Amino acid sequence: MAALALLTALALAGCSGAHDEIVIKFSHVVTPDTPKGMAAERFRQLAEARTGGRVKVRVYPNSQLYKDKEELEALQLGAVQMLAPSLAKIGALGVREFEAFDLPYLFDSYASLHKVTDGPLGRRLLARLESRGIRGLAFWDNGFKDFSANRPLRTPADFKGLKMRIQGSTVLEEQMRALGAQPQVIAFSEAYPALAAGVVDGTENPPSNLYTQNMHRVQRHLTRSQHGYLGYVVIVNKKFWDDLPRDVRTILEGAMRDATAYANRIAKDENDKDLALIRASGLTVVHEPTPAERAALRRALLPVHATMADYIGRDVLDALYRETG
Ligand code: LMR
Repeated sequence: MAALALLTALALAGCSGAHDEIVIKFSHVVTPDTPKGMAAERFRQLAEARTGGRVKVRVYPNSQLYKDKEELEALQLGAVQMLAPSLAKIGALGVREFEAFDLPYLFDSYASLHKVTDGPLGRRLLARLESRGIRGLAFWDNGFKDFSANRPLRTPADFKGLKMRIQGSTVLEEQMRALGAQPQVIAFSEAYPALAAGVVDGTENPPSNLYTQNMHRVQRHLTRSQHGYLGYVVIVNKKFWDDLPRDVRTILEGAMRDATAYANRIAKDENDKDLALIRASGLTVVHEPTPAERAALRRALLPVHATMADYIGRDVLDALYRETG
């Protein structure tokens, strides 16, 4: 009787016990030693320490649980609670505005990008996820993308006819078509095998993804085009999040704020480090475009903004230009 009274008192006080441990399954598709992988681990440590172990975060990297598309479905079904998909992949939820981040040459630095992700448009985009049963918590950086292939990519003409692996994004399809290449949507976990087998000829990603997936082993040329941005939105199952005890949710929000600051602090250095490792491997020739080559790529890719304006929404584009400008 006394034991029962004690248990009831503990439950009413919201104290933790083995029975009310809260588990957050956090699935992602990259390796642990990438900006996203490291930030997920940082969130795990902070969340567990600050809740005194009441919350357990189980991080599943490397598409161990789900591939790109499946992980979004799993989140909506509640099979996992947290993800950090790339902004490009959010379009699969029918929220096309996120694909604006895929537009070539939209941001000239992390600073101009942060004006958007930390500003009114960033908040508006996160709110758009609510109707999909998802709450958007934060934006995490990766970096700026380079093109790779088995032949040098110096001018737009070099892309002609190449099959290029892309993430599932209509804007990225259009970007590759603008170069005369054939876009092929392939899940991230299958990108390396597809490149190794020659199913596709080339791809694009920031150095951190190219290096940690060993793509540099099967791509002889990389062009430092820095033509587009790759970043993430950290999302949770809305019902799960709303049903958390308020004190726990507040602690987790703080842990996410700090993990986000960490993610955005390390992203550039991680990419610089991995680019140096790609160079040091001697397996991939890294080409720095001349100013004239950069200008030619830019000229070929900028029309994608106009082609995709209706698809993304002109108001979103206008807000983007305003906030970055
Ligand atoms: C890709 O599919 O290339 C990236 O979105 C992978 C990632 O999550 O960084």
